Formats: sequence, structure tokens, C-alpha cells
Amino acid sequence: MTIRNKLIAGNWKMNKTSADAAALARDITSVAGQRTDVEVVICPPFTALESAAQAVAGTQLRLGAQNMHPEKSGAFTGEISAEMLRALFVSHVILGHSERRTLFGETDGFINLKVLAALKNQLRPIFCVGETLTEREAGATLKVVQAQVERGLEGVGREQAVEIVVAYEPVWAIGTGKVATTAQAQEVHAFIRSLLTKLFGDVVAQKIRILYGGSMKPANAPELLAQPDIDGGLIGGASLEARSFLELVTAAAAAK
Ligand code: PGA
Repeated sequence: MTIRNKLIAGNWKMNKTSADAAALARDITSVAGQRTDVEVVICPPFTALESAAQAVAGTQLRLGAQNMHPEKSGAFTGEISAEMLRALFVSHVILGHSERRTLFGETDGFINLKVLAALKNQLRPIFCVGETLTEREAGATLKVVQAQVERGLEGVGREQAVEIVVAYEPVWAIGTGKVATTAQAQEVHAFIRSLLTKLFGDVVAQKIRILYGGSMKPANAPELLAQPDIDGGLIGGASLEARSFLELVTAAAAAK
């Protein structure tokens, strides 16, 4: 029995109109809306946050955004601030997703600014790290993950660190159907927890949830979620339909 409640987060990426998102959010809340044994977060695109917020109002479901700009306001065409997200009842924000890192050139330094800004504004970062296939094959996985964790969390204080959720997402497993073996995933999760212990001390590190992401599906979830340092999942493809997403929530509850 661990002190960490499992967390299942759905990353809807660039999918769902506002109306489609509200419908999916309602389907999820109708089944899992009152669950407290697993924390459930849905992360629709910005344009669907308002309709999704209405759909989850009064339930236990939490709302997350998929990105955020570190500045408060100003001349940043196309960007969204923490304050804007808070006004839509957003509580979590995915930061440093590998698609942001590789397709949009986000650096560890820029992601670090976002993490600090999110915490300052009472938003809980879902901070993503993970190696590419080339890096894994070169035996550099732990080194890469260590640099991402240390640089991304620079300047975070101990009291703030408990608010952070880390997501380990091997880039080669995202959307590919190739899932990390439980041993591969657990090894990196335990390593991340050791880094968190060095940064924030054991008491805090034991409270921080570390999610696995990358082709997590109802079929492979139970084994992954049973690992001692895997505290939930960041789900892409399988979060776009209520049925598969809800099965993952059930799997997380059963894995306690
Ligand atoms: P996937 O995506 O579940 O479709 O692999 C996970 C993610 O990118 O967060």
C-alpha cells in the first residue's frame, strides 16, 4: 500500500471540438465522476476547456491544459497564460511533452520557466520527460532523463515540489503501439524517484506521483500500474474514447 493515490490523465492532444469534448467529458463523469480512490484528469485542447469545465463541474474529475506560456500576459501571439487557464477552472497543465520538445523546439530552460510559472499560479504541472529510441539504443536513457529532470525542475522549492506530477514517456513508445516493458518502465521510474529524493528529500519524493505514458492501454495497464514506482498513466490514444479511458481508471483502482 503506497501513500500515493494513483492518477490517470487523458491527453487529448489536437482532437475534439468543444462540443465533442463536452460529450466525452460527460460520458467519463457519468461513470467515474464521484471516484476518489483514483485521481482523474482530462486535458482537452484549449478551445474545449470551457465546455469541458462545465461538464466536470461538481464532480471529482479535474481539468488540465496541454501547454502554457510562462509569462503573465503580453505580446505572445497564439499563447495562453496560467491566469487564463485558472479562469477556466483548470488545475493541471502538461508541460514539456515530447511533441512540444521535438515539434515545437521547447528546451529544458523554457520548460523550467513554465514549471515555475505554473506552480506560482497554483497549477499542478504534469512535467514530461523521456528518451528517444536513438538515446535508448545508445545506453543514454538515464543520463537524458536526469538532465531533463534536473534542468526542468531547477529552482523548485520543497513545499512546491509535492504539487508536481512527473510523467515518464519514452518517446519511442508514444502513439506507436510499442510499450516499454514493465521492467524498463520501473527502472526509469525508480531512477526518477531517486533524483527527486536528491532534489527534495525522501519525504517529498515519496509523495510525488510518477506517471507512465506511451501506448498505455487497458491490456497492458494492470502490469505497469502494479510496479512500485508507477503511480498512474498519461494516456493519449486510449483517452479519446470513454470506454478505454474508464477501463484504465478501473485498472488504476485495482492496482492499489
Ligand atoms: P499515447 O500518448 O498513449 O497515444 O502513446 C501518450 C502521450 O503522448 O501522452
